[in-house]
Amino acid sequence: MLYWDIIINMKTEEKVIVVASTNQGKIREFRSMLEPEGYIVKSLADMEGMPEIIENGTTFSENAVIKAQSVTDYFGIEAISDDSGLEIDAFGREPGVHSARWLGHDTPYSYKNQVILDRMKGETNRTCRYVCAIAWTAPGKQPVVFEDTVECEIAYEPKGENGFGYDPVIWYPPFGKTMAEMSDEEKNSISHRGKAIRKLEAWLNEKK
Ligand code: IMP
Repeated sequence: MLYWDIIINMKTEEKVIVVASTNQGKIREFRSMLEPEGYIVKSLADMEGMPEIIENGTTFSENAVIKAQSVTDYFGIEAISDDSGLEIDAFGREPGVHSARWLGHDTPYSYKNQVILDRMKGETNRTCRYVCAIAWTAPGKQPVVFEDTVECEIAYEPKGENGFGYDPVIWYPPFGKTMAEMSDEEKNSISHRGKAIRKLEAWLNEKK
């Protein structure tokens, strides 16, 4: 799907939102939450010509705004972006905004997750959280940011095949399972991204 398709969709007043990301796990979560609400969700992979976006913010909110604003400025359209990550308290809240690049962008998560488990051996404070900031941008408008978190613990071993990234080692005590053992619906109901998206949705509906 190219830029022109999006313009045509906008003319027919279909609600198109470009998620300024190519992370398939995240795009799938955005789709599963926004498409039932009538939004057509496109990803950066659908957008031809978008130059690389440098995420050099120091907070999740700053990075989310940088990404969404870059798409808005380049294509002149409405965009949303999320910046998210994992804060491990015993690691001084790292990897935080570096979650995607931590130990190398292309390093498999099976390895990254094992490093977390190894470094957590003997650690009594296992608390951690996922944080998600979603930025909405549109031409000539101030960016709006929605942020939320989900409090979790580092598991003792990886479990589950669903989700993505750090999910197999992120234990959610109220459900007694890891994020990777949850169905999409279960994860969306409690996740940082699910909660932030619902704030975004409520605001988009109010704004209509
Ligand atoms: P971003 O694409 O720069 O926002 O990077 C987010 C990174 O945080 C992802 O690549 C994952 O490493 C991590 N992350 C954020 N949300 C989740 C999640 O729901 N599950 C697993 N990892 C996540």
